[in-house]
Amino acid sequence: MYNFVFQNTTKIYFGENQLNHLGEELKQYGSRVLLTYGGGSIKKIGLYDKIVEQLKAAGLTIFELSGIEPNPRHTTVNKGAEICKKEKIDVLLAVGGGSTIDCTKAIAAAAFYDGDSWDLVTYKAPVTHALPLLSVLTLSATGSEMDAGGVISNMDTNEKYGLMHPLLQPKVSFLDPTVTYSVNAFQTASGSADILSHIFDLFYFTASPKMDMIDRIMEDVIKTVVHYAPIAIKEPENYEARANLMWASSWALNDFLSTGSFQAATCHAMEHELSAFYDITHGLGLAILTPRWMEYILDESTAPQFKKFGVNIFDVDSSLSNIDGAKQAISCLSNFFFKTLGLSSTLTEIGIDDTNFKVMAEKACGGGSLEGFTTLTPKDVENIFHMCL
Ligand code: NZQ
Ligand code: ZN
Repeated sequence: MYNFVFQNTTKIYFGENQLNHLGEELKQYGSRVLLTYGGGSIKKIGLYDKIVEQLKAAGLTIFELSGIEPNPRHTTVNKGAEICKKEKIDVLLAVGGGSTIDCTKAIAAAAFYDGDSWDLVTYKAPVTHALPLLSVLTLSATGSEMDAGGVISNMDTNEKYGLMHPLLQPKVSFLDPTVTYSVNAFQTASGSADILSHIFDLFYFTASPKMDMIDRIMEDVIKTVVHYAPIAIKEPENYEARANLMWASSWALNDFLSTGSFQAATCHAMEHELSAFYDITHGLGLAILTPRWMEYILDESTAPQFKKFGVNIFDVDSSLSNIDGAKQAISCLSNFFFKTLGLSSTLTEIGIDDTNFKVMAEKACGGGSLEGFTTLTPKDVENIFHMCL
């Protein structure tokens, strides 16, 4: 395993009624708050009113940016940064899923930059300062509530990139599983696929050395999601299921599971091209891609890890050969995504054809190749996209 430094500074309030601490936490960073949210789900579930009540009770002045899109746009980041500059905002409060939190992270940095926020996302300009940011998570998926990254899209150029900087780490995040009761079956399934993919893609299926302790914990987090996601879909108000998914979301991507290992992000790089061109839901794209990617790279070197995954997660017969065990594991994962969780299984079903595959594959490889469990060339990526049709 590799040496590592681990530091995660986000303070978590987990459980019901923890929002009572929101005012006191925000006040530590100032009095002028920019409250950011998406298309209105927080109003439908009564969360908006609860938050405004807390902020008013704490004597804070509230400004708002609403309408943050799923796959948030750099133009919305620019809007938020303008409000921060004009209204001399002290602290940001993101209430929503990964898109709202990500957009707000980029706003935090763009508030100190005079040009287009896209310069920051593409690292043409460095992040030098950032406003402090707190979050109230409403969808279990991305881990943005406890990591230092945000993913922003530019739909004019069909580009979607991650902006990472330690200054973007949320100071405090509130995780109340009951606010996810209203997340529909599709978003619950997609979010669960995203949580799983963070583990598979970044650290579990890897050619890099790993620490056995971390490998075992990853399998437990995977089992947790495989167990509770179907329950949350059938019983949206099952607290235990929602709570387990929520905490799994945070721990899948808060840097703990990458300790001692090398992080890749093969399926994520391919999926970001799908969202950048077709504005699809991130977790859905990952669910469609992952089993095809596994099938494409299956050989004697990758089979043992795929088989181990099948044996430990889906009770695949351990006496099978590595290749046969791996094939069964891939089939079990496909069944889980497409039958148990009910996600669409092909790009064709969601209206995507091969028109842009070549250019998407080249972009996913960033002008070179895609490093990961195995190295993929643009031609390999294009082939994987074709397998998804
Ligand atoms: O816009 P609103 O009204 O909030 O509705 C949202 C949106 O339509 C809805 N929703 C959220 N909470 C809800 C709810 N509906 C009912 N009840 C609730 N409690 O769900 C829809 C999707 O929301 P979104 O925030 O887009 O979903 P998610 O959390 O999956 O975020 C996806 C974005 O995060 C990025 C993705 O690429 C994508 O842009 N990622 C961020 C990462 C990070 N920061 O580390 C890593 C990930 O790999 C990922 O790339
Ligand atoms: Zn993801």
